[in-house]
Amino acid sequence: MLNVAVIGATGYTGVELVRLLLRHPQVNIVALTSRQYANESFAQIFPSMVGHLDTVCTKFDAAELVDRKVDIAFTAVPHKTAMEVVPSLLERNIRVVDLSADYRLRDVGVYEQWYQTHTSPDLVNSAVYGLPELYRSKIGAADLVANPGCYPTSIAVAMAPLVLEKLIELDGIVLDSKSGATGAGRSAKTSSLFCEVNEGFKAYAVTTHRHTPEIEQTMNELSGALVKVNFTPHLLPLNRGILSTCYATLKPGVTQSQVDAAFETCYASEPFVRLCHGGNLPNTAYVRGSNFVDLGWVVDHRTGRIIVVSAIDNLVKGAAGQAVQNMNIMFGLVESEGLTVVPLFP
Ligand SMILES: NC(=O)c1ccc[n+]([C@@H]2O[C@H](COP(=O)([O-])OP(=O)(O)OC[C@H]3O[C@@H](n4cnc5c(N)ncnc54)[C@H](OP(=O)(O)O)[C@@H]3O)[C@@H](O)[C@H]2O)c1
Repeated sequence: MLNVAVIGATGYTGVELVRLLLRHPQVNIVALTSRQYANESFAQIFPSMVGHLDTVCTKFDAAELVDRKVDIAFTAVPHKTAMEVVPSLLERNIRVVDLSADYRLRDVGVYEQWYQTHTSPDLVNSAVYGLPELYRSKIGAADLVANPGCYPTSIAVAMAPLVLEKLIELDGIVLDSKSGATGAGRSAKTSSLFCEVNEGFKAYAVTTHRHTPEIEQTMNELSGALVKVNFTPHLLPLNRGILSTCYATLKPGVTQSQVDAAFETCYASEPFVRLCHGGNLPNTAYVRGSNFVDLGWVVDHRTGRIIVVSAIDNLVKGAAGQAVQNMNIMFGLVESEGLTVVPLFP
């Protein structure tokens, strides 16, 4: 059995981690941390947990986690806070899956350009980018896994087969993504108020969203070239879900059957990637609560472009579910353990 701690357990990804970990047969939840809710029981904070978990939240204290014999900690805290706590965990031989952006970008200069000064740059080199479908072989031995961002996950899985098989031009890629409101976290802010989100639909952070360098980093690694993309996120009046619609120009002569084969080959044995066949396209409603990425694609013969659509639950494959998938790989467990949830529909 693994002793697990969730740092920042009272945020949206924290409580989603707890929901998934509770059904994991190889896990004991031994510590949940929060500043605001220290000394309160988890079931008191989240009535959905009544009858499932009455652990009392504590303030983060790395030494106490050693006393509780923690094997792995999930850091589900904002960026900047993550790099303040992760070194103290690794120093104590506690392996980490970090859900923040602090260790995702391999180039510290790029991180500092888009975020802020990095306070533990020495750990960046040893961090493994935890997207199992693309980097599985590196995750098993990692002590620090940088769990990918929600938008980058939905886009990387959608675009990887086309980039790896060199079926598309690398310039002119347009990534149009829409996310539910939990993507912004649980802390109070005007832009997340019901009346600001409900019955509206807007683009935000156009050309400036911080997931842009992460998306380009994966594209660069898969293609061996320097890729620049147009990434435009939108806010949907939904609690959960991301739908990404990705546009690229096919190289001359590329056929529909080559495109189909690229997706089939890339994801034939992936437990969490579901391909939509027969012209069907994904819908966030069919992945809610699950770790699936649903993918559909259409070749536009008129314009010579391909449109790939992906749907994920931002809190599961976009965060907590992928983090548990990474934990399973790190500890040699069955990769889908604890994650075989049927999506919540309707
Ligand atoms: N939401 C998503 O869909 C999503 C997807 C992928 C990745 N992520 C990443 O996962 C991390 C957690 O996201 P979230 O959406 O769960 O955030 P959240 O809802 O805002 O929760 C943040 C958690 O961290 C704790 N915390 C500790 N230090 C903090 C600080 N200095 N400022 C604010 N909170 C602090 C909070 O509890 P206390 O304030 O009580 O300490 C809370 O438990 C972030 O890095 C985020 O970028 C989120």
